[in-house]
Amino acid sequence: MEILTFPNELLRRTSKDVDILNNAEKEEIKKLVPEMKELMYEANGVGLAAPQVGIAKRFFIIDVEQQIERDEEGNVCSRTPGELHVFINPKIYDTEGSTVCEEGCLSVPGVYEEVKRFSKLTVDYYDLDFEKKTMVAEGFMAVVIQHENDHLDGKLFIDKLPVVKRTVIKNRIIKGKAF
Ligand code: NI
Repeated sequence: MEILTFPNELLRRTSKDVDILNNAEKEEIKKLVPEMKELMYEANGVGLAAPQVGIAKRFFIIDVEQQIERDEEGNVCSRTPGELHVFINPKIYDTEGSTVCEEGCLSVPGVYEEVKRFSKLTVDYYDLDFEKKTMVAEGFMAVVIQHENDHLDGKLFIDKLPVVKRTVIKNRIIKGKAF
């Protein structure tokens, strides 16, 4: 398993709902999540969606509470994981407010840009025990949920940038000149 990066076309697919009545599919996801978790932590990410590892299914993982300590050179020397949230078949609704946050993405390495999102939302989903849950999220958690949910629809955060900036960034990446 590896993290796919822009402009990989697999990142642009619309993912399908997980069939929560299909035990084989559920078992597969239970095996995939720990692998995705390792990849996410290794890459110092706060979220990872299934399409980013080439799986066109509607689920993602988020840990916004992990503590990362860095040395003077900026290298990660220790990490304390927080709570890992698994969102399967998420449905976002009751969005409100707006917030601007600097975002990055493991699939768009080296690019950090401000993006406008809803500041509060409610999301229905299944957790890794395939129990139905509802979460009201605000602030950073709400932003990360929207970012990861976009991956399920083949959207990247750079798509939300003003057209000139977006074009410059995309061209720079495609030409291999990104940082
Ligand atoms: Ni991302």
